[in-house]
Amino acid sequence: MEAGKQGCLPYDARVAMSQVTIRKAVPDDAERLLAYFRQVLEEPDIDLLTSPGEFNYTIDDERKLVDERARSDNSVFLLAEVDGQIIGLLGCEGGKRRKVRHVTVLGMSVRKDWRDRGVGKALMAHAINWAKSTGVVKRIELSVFARNARALHLYEQCGFVIEGRRRRAICQNGEYLDLLEMGLLLD
Ligand SMILES: CC(C)(COP(=O)(O)OP(=O)(O)OC[C@H]1O[C@@H](n2cnc3c(N)ncnc32)[C@H](O)[C@@H]1OP(=O)(O)O)[C@@H](O)C(=O)NCCC(=O)NCCS
Repeated sequence: MEAGKQGCLPYDARVAMSQVTIRKAVPDDAERLLAYFRQVLEEPDIDLLTSPGEFNYTIDDERKLVDERARSDNSVFLLAEVDGQIIGLLGCEGGKRRKVRHVTVLGMSVRKDWRDRGVGKALMAHAINWAKSTGVVKRIELSVFARNARALHLYEQCGFVIEGRRRRAICQNGEYLDLLEMGLLLD
């Protein structure tokens, strides 16, 4: 384990986390990143905005995206892996226009069998450290389904504040759901 606050994790979770490496993605990860993301999207009722049929990136598209993020000073792609397998992903996409270049928009997921073991917290700790180190990013923002108690808990634990509720912003399987907007200011 390379970073992240581990003091609050139970013993078995600490053992599990000791196997986890967190690093920036590189273009050669593209194929595995796509396979990972497709697997997560296939979960029924997953609280992510993208639906399975809507994710049509090719390996080449993904390579370019990873490469662009690696060159950017306000975007990043972090992955968590164990024994060469991707078990978690965190992406931050920075604003392109001058007035929003200090803002980066975060999205993340952890593979189902690795949830609740501290991987999300470790990815988030890396992302916050990265954002602070850029000297450019001053605000991290994200959207989360209001019913996603686990994600909300993690984000609030990491200092994110709820800034707004977009009522019925989501329609999933015929059900309207609220979306929360959250933000973290870095100084
Ligand atoms: C949300 C997600 C990224 C978090 O990653 P993770 O590795 O499971 O997170 P962690 O284990 O670091 O932390 C989870 C925390 O939520 C807590 N938690 C779990 N279920 C909970 C619930 N129903 N209510 C409140 N807290 C809950 C855990 O106890 C843990 O807190 P603790 O460290 O204080 O014990 C991951 O669960 C995930 O990929 N979910 C599906 C995709 C998703 O929802 N992505 C977020 C979109 S905004």
